[in-house]
Amino acid sequence: MSLSSEIVELPGAWRDEVVGLHQPAPLFDGRIAPYINLDNAATTPALQSVVRAVEEFLPWYASVHRGSGFKSRMATAIYDEARQIVGEFFGAGPERVVVFGKNATEALNKLAARFPLPAGSVVLTTMMEHHSNMLPWRSRAEVGYIDLEPDGTLSLADLEAKLARHAGRVKVVTVTGASNVTGFAPPIHKIAAMAHAAGAAIVVDAAQLAPHRAISMRPLSDPEHIDFLVASAHKMYAPYGTGVLVGPREPFLEGEPDLVGGGTVKLVTLEEAVWLDPPEKEEAGSPNAIGVVAFAAAIKALSAWGLDTLAEHERELTTYALRRLREVPGLRFFGSGDPDRTSDRLGVISFNLAGYHHGHVAAVLGHEAGIGVRNGCFCAHPYLLRLLEVRAEDAERLRSEIVHGVRARIPGSVRISFGFYNIKADVDAAVDALQTIASGQARGTYRQIEETGEFVLEGKALDDLPRFGFGQG
Ligand code: ALA
Repeated sequence: MSLSSEIVELPGAWRDEVVGLHQPAPLFDGRIAPYINLDNAATTPALQSVVRAVEEFLPWYASVHRGSGFKSRMATAIYDEARQIVGEFFGAGPERVVVFGKNATEALNKLAARFPLPAGSVVLTTMMEHHSNMLPWRSRAEVGYIDLEPDGTLSLADLEAKLARHAGRVKVVTVTGASNVTGFAPPIHKIAAMAHAAGAAIVVDAAQLAPHRAISMRPLSDPEHIDFLVASAHKMYAPYGTGVLVGPREPFLEGEPDLVGGGTVKLVTLEEAVWLDPPEKEEAGSPNAIGVVAFAAAIKALSAWGLDTLAEHERELTTYALRRLREVPGLRFFGSGDPDRTSDRLGVISFNLAGYHHGHVAAVLGHEAGIGVRNGCFCAHPYLLRLLEVRAEDAERLRSEIVHGVRARIPGSVRISFGFYNIKADVDAAVDALQTIASGQARGTYRQIEETGEFVLEGKALDDLPRFGFGQG
């Protein structure tokens, strides 16, 4: 694996495409520094080309699928073309439909509501899922949780065992394309083959994977094909409120959509509603045309640069980061900290610093180094508790505290996560700041709020932020 000096450096022009890359942000001592965003697993900044596409579309903005005027026809054609662009990006092919909604969470809720799950069905999800790929299934079927290997990766042996234990009853295997905690990327096509052999459909929550690796769902005739996939545009440099569910048409042909109303019907009488075909049937209300245009624009930009090129840069940056983070005394990784292991993971790195609450570390990084990270449990409580090896009795005590409004001792970690535009200098800044914290030289005094668990800088008001003008200056 190459060292830092050999990292694939992306053309500067690509970095310049990131909106707000050098956004100045105030530090705790009044200095202003360019913000360093290492929280791309949560949300990514917009691309200039996405903003341009939205601006190009706005003069045409009008009712989609509803109007006879020129603008409506234009807006409808653009919306439909965007649907095609998104479908092609994921290799949906003619056998699948592309349904837009507001994000991956909504897409998973829709799929759980719409997928036929007769009484006695089992859905297998995993211990490493985001809550959004656990909770929607719980009210719909008996849910099993595929276990982990000791290193935090998914246990295919346990998947095999659970498929055998529930033989004939497993209708869905739903798995993350990559963890938002450790970056581990399960072998989705291998899992697909196992699911199909057991008569189950596979769902991939690609919210984390899609911005970082090329994905092909493959034709339905391929035993390793992905049946359903969900993704969120706001994690793919298009933060205008769109998500997608891609999958075969069949489950959506039957029954009522989960949301009913305008745009879903061929006709309505006082007695009946005759539904449109999917995807329209599944997109109730006026669609978010701006969001869909933005999503397609981001996909065009990522495709033009080449997902493989971006992935190579991110892989090498991850190697560099893992090497450098090892220099920080007391830093413990959750998941793999092996710099040479990048084939089954993304640039999502979780860790803690011995002696420091994860919230404290995140606050110092923000206030003293201008670095944005996320800390906590990342909407993946079961996975975090396992990685942190929280004992059952401690989990019970913490549960009681949280239920009673105290989040101060909630377990968690600090997470840095890369986008294609991050560079070695961003990693170096984070490592320098972590070294400072580890050596007890953070300069601010922080106070933890018992209820929220948040660390605030002493002497600084929580709402001490610059005024935002909402277009009025
Ligand atoms: N799921 C997003 C994250 O991991 C919000 O931060």
